[in-house]
Amino acid sequence: MSRFSKMFEGWRGERQWSAFSPEINSREFIDLSHGTLLYLENITVSFDGFKALDKLDLYIDKGELRCIIGANGAGKTTMMDVVTGKLRPDSGTAFLGQTVNLLNMSESEISEVGIGRKFQKPTVLENFSVFDNLELSLHADRSVKAALFARLTGEQRDRIEEVLEIIGLKTERERIAGNLSHGQKQWLEIGILLIQDPYLLLVDEPVAGMTVQETERTAELLTSLAGERSVVVVEHDMEFVRSIANIVTVLHQGSVLAEGTMNEIQEDPKVKEVYLGSTESSS
Ligand SMILES: Nc1ncnc2c1ncn2[C@@H]1O[C@H](COP(=O)(O)OP(=O)(O)OP(=O)(O)O)[C@@H](O)[C@H]1O
Ligand SMILES: [Mg+2]
Repeated sequence: MSRFSKMFEGWRGERQWSAFSPEINSREFIDLSHGTLLYLENITVSFDGFKALDKLDLYIDKGELRCIIGANGAGKTTMMDVVTGKLRPDSGTAFLGQTVNLLNMSESEISEVGIGRKFQKPTVLENFSVFDNLELSLHADRSVKAALFARLTGEQRDRIEEVLEIIGLKTERERIAGNLSHGQKQWLEIGILLIQDPYLLLVDEPVAGMTVQETERTAELLTSLAGERSVVVVEHDMEFVRSIANIVTVLHQGSVLAEGTMNEIQEDPKVKEVYLGSTESSS
């Protein structure tokens, strides 16, 4: 079965594709006509009988910035593992748009189709400059060898400049990544993902360990990234979540406990009981 027919097996649309051409960029197949970018339905992941995700349903709209909160062990990182293909669920479905079946794709295919993930620990290449880190990420395998033998096109150079501007590291372009501050490394990491122009950016605990200023700058950055793409942020820092969130999803024991604005979530009795603590009274 070809990669593309595999991807569309069990797809959600009414139309039928008459022909598949392997040279067509798979991103062109993404159908966002219903306004929803990511569909997770009935996802269950078990580890030795323990359900890290338990019939999880989660929908992310095109262009939205969604925050996911929940206590330690609620399943937030596991959800990202499923979306990025690191982990296969026991059951359920995961689609990007109407047509692209993520559960039939490998991790690298999912990344190519437009889902970027930022891990907590930055994976920037410490011995290379900011610019070189971005340049290397133009090549799918981030290989230095590929970069040495490929000259940047004008378009690629423009893209790097654009990303440097977005992540606020224009003046730091020649600096060795290892010498950047913790916050700057995190932004560079986001830049590395942006080079590929993803449809969906998954960010796990972006402000952990950041200074107040870096946290504020990160809030601005993530807010500015939504709209053109969807951004899903997992974070424990509630002040940060409040500063960027539109809709917040609360995960609890592997499924959605509540969803709404930060105010709605904080007033939700279920949330108060299991997450914020039922006896806690806010002042
Ligand atoms: N590879 C694994 N093997 C066994 N159990 C696992 C594995 N990965 C995760 N778990 C368990 O699944 C549950 C959900 O973990 P997950 O990492 O998704 O939580 P989380 O919401 O990201 O928590 P945190 O806020 O602490 O990062 C936890 O109880 C965790 O111990
Ligand atoms: Mg986690």
